[in-house]
Amino acid sequence: MTRVPSRTRRPFVGGNWKMNSDRASAHDLASSLARAASSVGDGVEIVVFPPYPYLDLVRAALGESGIALGAQDLSSEPNGALTGEVSAEMLLDIGATWVLVGHSERRQKLGESDGLVADKLVMALESGLHVVLCVGETLEERNAGRESAIVERQIGAALANIPPTHLERMVIAYEPIWAIGTGVVATPKDAAGAHAAIREALASRYDSALARETRIVYGGSLAPGNAKALFAESGVDGGLVGGASLKASDFLAICSAAMIGVGAR
Ligand code: 13P
Repeated sequence: MTRVPSRTRRPFVGGNWKMNSDRASAHDLASSLARAASSVGDGVEIVVFPPYPYLDLVRAALGESGIALGAQDLSSEPNGALTGEVSAEMLLDIGATWVLVGHSERRQKLGESDGLVADKLVMALESGLHVVLCVGETLEERNAGRESAIVERQIGAALANIPPTHLERMVIAYEPIWAIGTGVVATPKDAAGAHAAIREALASRYDSALARETRIVYGGSLAPGNAKALFAESGVDGGLVGGASLKASDFLAICSAAMIGVGAR
């Protein structure tokens, strides 16, 4: 049976390699993905986010496979005396078309505030990049029943200066911090609840049509064995994958699950 995904919310799967890989393994992984990309088909939008030093070689290895290239971060400033920073222009110059903004590891371990996340989001979108904006609550916040309030705050702060026309270049990733790298995955019902809260926040910031058209993906211990059930939830439009994106066969299985799960609704 041919399954046709929603025209407005094409499934999206991102592979966030984080601070992993080296020259050889980055090349091997990207080449394996490029060779297999046609088996997944173009019903799923696939983006990989390697570390900065390997962006160029991964771009070359991906070739014309249709898999897009993204960076894991960018500076909120356009250029200048900012040792160690990387600008949006540099990312575009090297062939990256996507960037992650507001990942919880940067918020929590590297002290990124809501304000800095908002500035980075403006810089990325004004420069023409596509963005995966990450939001999600800690275990403490979840146990206190505050998960919806947290993601609503993060969405409100990040999107404060973003006009509605920029939203089509944005995907939102719901990544509960307690599920990242822990092997503990949100239940499909929990993920669906959080995604609904995010969509609600978008509807009140913009309008319900725009909220309906925006892709919201799940991240946190995604694996071939749990992806399909999560992607079958009507508000879950794919995933942002960490650990499992480092193994081509696992990542591709998750991409296929996005195609099947979202298409089977
Ligand atoms: P894991 O899939 O390793 O839990 O990481 C999720 C994540 O942080 C993706 O950005």
